[in-house]
Amino acid sequence: MTFEQPSSLRLLALHAFPLDGRMWGLVKAAAAAGQLGAGVAVTAPDFRGRGGASRAAEPVHAMSLLARDVLEELPGDEPFVVMGLSMGGYVALELLARLDAGLRARLRGLVLCDSRANADDDAGKAKRADSAAAIEKDGMEPLLAKMLPQFLVPESRGGALEQLVRTMFLATPPATAAADQLGMAGRVDRFDVLGTLAVPFLAAVGDDDELTPPSASEQMVDAAANAPWVELLTLPGAHLAPLEHPEEFLPKLRAFLDRCRG
Ligand code: MLT
Repeated sequence: MTFEQPSSLRLLALHAFPLDGRMWGLVKAAAAAGQLGAGVAVTAPDFRGRGGASRAAEPVHAMSLLARDVLEELPGDEPFVVMGLSMGGYVALELLARLDAGLRARLRGLVLCDSRANADDDAGKAKRADSAAAIEKDGMEPLLAKMLPQFLVPESRGGALEQLVRTMFLATPPATAAADQLGMAGRVDRFDVLGTLAVPFLAAVGDDDELTPPSASEQMVDAAANAPWVELLTLPGAHLAPLEHPEEFLPKLRAFLDRCRG
C-alpha cells in the first residue's frame, strides 16, 4: 500500500469482489482535485493476490485475514475514515472489530456502500462453494457475464465504467477470486460492530442492487442507531451505484467527511 502524501484525513477505500483498488479512481481524483475537502487523501489498496498487492493469494481469504493485511500497512498517525463497497464493506467491518485503542482513537467515520452486515445462510455458502469451483475450472469470463448486469444497470453500460469493471474482473487471478468466495462464505454477522459504533456512519445503496439490496443497508442503519450520526443514501443504480452516479455520491461523501472532521 502506498501513502503518497500526508493528509489531514485519510479515506481508506476497500474494493469489491472481484475487482481491485482501481474501482475507487473517481474518488481518488475527486480528492486530488480538492472536491472532498482540504487535506483529504484516498488510499485504495488491492487485497492480497491481485494487482499491486504485496501478499500472495491464500487458499481462503477470510475477511479477517484481508482486514489484518490492510491494518498491518496502515501507518502514521492520521485520522481516517474507512469506506468499503460490498466485499470491501465486509472487510471494513472486520477491520473495525480489530482496532486497538490507538487506531480507534484515530477512526473518524464509516461508509458502507452496497454491502451488508449479515453472514451467508447455508444456501448462500453452498452457492459460493459452487462458484469457487466454477471459477477455478472456467476462469473469470463466465462470472463476468453473470455479474456485469448485476453490477451496472443498463443505462450505466457500454462506457468507460463498464470497460473498467471488465478490466478489473479479468485481471483478477481465478485462484484469488475463488479464495475470496470461500472467505466470504465463512464470514460472520457483524451487526455487533455497528451496534457499538462511536463514529458517524453513512450507508449508500443502489435502488436496483439485487446482490446487496436496500433492505440490507436499512438493517445496518437500524443496527447503528446509537452511532453519533447515521445516514442512509439511496442512489439510482445497481451494485456499483456510487460509481454509476458519482455526481450524486461525491457531494454526499464530501458532506459526510466534513461531518467526520467534527
Ligand atoms: C462484491 O461485490 O464484493 C460481491 O458481490 C459481494 C458478495 O458476493 O457478497
